[in-house]
Amino acid sequence: MKVVLGSGAQHMRDEFLAKATGYDKELVETEIKTFPDGEKYVRVLGEGDEAIVVQSTFRPQDEHLMELLLLGDALREKGFKHLKAVVPYLAYSRQDRVTKEGEPISVRAVLRTLSLYYDEFYVFDLHNPETLKFFPKKAVNLSPAKAIARYFKEKLENGIILAPDRGALERARAVAGELGLEFSHFEKKRISPTEVQMQPVDVDVKGKNVLIVDDIISTGGTMIRAANLLKEMGAGKVFVAATHGVFAKGAIERVSKAVDELAVTNTIPTEVSKISLVEEILKL
Ligand code: R5P
Repeated sequence: MKVVLGSGAQHMRDEFLAKATGYDKELVETEIKTFPDGEKYVRVLGEGDEAIVVQSTFRPQDEHLMELLLLGDALREKGFKHLKAVVPYLAYSRQDRVTKEGEPISVRAVLRTLSLYYDEFYVFDLHNPETLKFFPKKAVNLSPAKAIARYFKEKLENGIILAPDRGALERARAVAGELGLEFSHFEKKRISPTEVQMQPVDVDVKGKNVLIVDDIISTGGTMIRAANLLKEMGAGKVFVAATHGVFAKGAIERVSKAVDELAVTNTIPTEVSKISLVEEILKL
C-alpha cells in the first residue's frame, strides 16, 4: 500500500517515514506547488494499485481540499485502482445543516465531490458523524481515544476523565475505557434567571487528577471555565485534551495558563499538537 502526503500532512512526514515500513506501507513522493496566479500544481512520482492519501484540511481549507482532489485525479491518471482519503480534520464539517434559507449543506458538497475520486473516506472525530452518509461509499469516523489515553496514561494516577458537556460524553467514556478510569461530564445548572453554572455530574473531583476531553478547542472558553471550576472544587492536576486544535488567536496561551497541561492531536499542526495519530493512520 502506497501513502501520499498532501501539504496538509507534511507535519507528519518524519513519523510516516520512520514507521511506514513497519506497517507494510511505502511513502510516494510528490511535487506540490502553487502557480504565481494562485492555482495548485501536484505531481505524483510513484506507481502502484492502492494508495492512502493523507490530507488534513485546516487553514487554508480550500487549497487543501483542492489539492486532495488533484491528488486523487493524478493517482487515477497513473492507474491506481483503489484510493483511500484520510482527512484527519475535515473542513466545512460544522456546516451540516441549513439554518437560513438559501444556504448549502457544505459538508455534503465536500464529501460528494471527494467521492468522485476516492473509494474510502476516513476522518477523525467528525463534528456530526451522521454526515458521513453524504459520502456514498465506505466512510469511517476514527476515534483518537487510544492515542489520547496513551499520551496521558502516566499522568493520571488517581485520575478521572470529564467531558465539558453531555454531548462530549462518549469521547470521555472511550478515553476512560482505555485507562480503566471513571468518567463523567459537566452539566449547566441554572443558579438564577441570569446565572448559569457548570458543574461535574455525580463525581467528587477533590484531590483527583482530571483530564477534560473535547473534540475542538477554539477560543478555549469552554475548557478554561471547566478548569477554573475544577480548581475551585479542589481537583489535583487539571489536564486538557482535544482532537482538533482549531485555536483562535491567543487561545493556546490562555488555556495553557489555566491548566497544568494542554495537548491536542496532530490533525492540525500547532505548538501543542503533541498527540500523534500517525500510527492510527498507518493501520488503515
Ligand atoms: C462545541 O460543540 C464543541 O464541542 C466545543 O466544545 C467548542 O467548539 C469549544 O469552543 P471554545 O473553545 O470556543 O469554547
